[in-house]
Amino acid sequence: MSRTPIIAGNWKMHKSPNESVMFASELVERVASFDNAERVIAPTFLSISGVADALLGTPLQIAAQDAHWADAGAYTSQVSAEMLRGFVNYVIIGHSERRAYLHDSDEDVNKKAKAILAHGLKPIIAVGESLTQNEAGETVAFVSGQVRAALDGIVASDMAKVVIAYEPIWAIGTGLSASGAQANDIIASAVRTTVRQLYGDTIADGTRIQYGGSVKPSNMEEFMSQPDIDGALVGGASLNVDDFTALIEIASRVKGD
Ligand code: PGA
Repeated sequence: MSRTPIIAGNWKMHKSPNESVMFASELVERVASFDNAERVIAPTFLSISGVADALLGTPLQIAAQDAHWADAGAYTSQVSAEMLRGFVNYVIIGHSERRAYLHDSDEDVNKKAKAILAHGLKPIIAVGESLTQNEAGETVAFVSGQVRAALDGIVASDMAKVVIAYEPIWAIGTGLSASGAQANDIIASAVRTTVRQLYGDTIADGTRIQYGGSVKPSNMEEFMSQPDIDGALVGGASLNVDDFTALIEIASRVKGD
């Protein structure tokens, strides 16, 4: 089954609103012809509205870096999925930095996924093991547990909107990436197999699964050549317009029909 590749740039806490709009306006021109891949950027909440205005009518899509599960309420600092509707297409949830620093649990990630889907948006659910878990041989059990928990109660008809990002924590921002074969193996055995157990073959074969963790122009082709890797969630290299353009070009060329 063919799966449209999806490349998402997670800008984390980088770029002012002005810088974000300037970057987005340049990127949309640079990647216009690489249309075999979905192209997504995730600016900070503060920059989303300006970037959405700048990208109106263009194929570049926007993701938020998180969303709260409640529509509104006494949750200082938070932004709800309902508020993001109309501004973004995707919402990244479960990123390991949120899990580590802001204590997002599997249950929180699940509640966020359901709220995002309920508001017609699409979650990018990030999962991945620590170095200690990896070295202890716990990767497959841990990652499949995260996938199972995140998808709890999500109906089959919503699964076409769900993207999963496998990001080994030890590879994020460290310059150490998994090899293409290693990443493919975990994505196949821990992520896609779990989706298959939960939803069956058709949905498992249609679900898009990204790799993330020190993806850069020099290793992108290796990841995109793997059969179970359907794109990338990119941090550092998405902040540089030349690098991010190169990643999108590679995905569109290698994975495109
Ligand atoms: P990195 O970050 O590409 O800088 O390793 C990836 C991520 O956190 O999604």
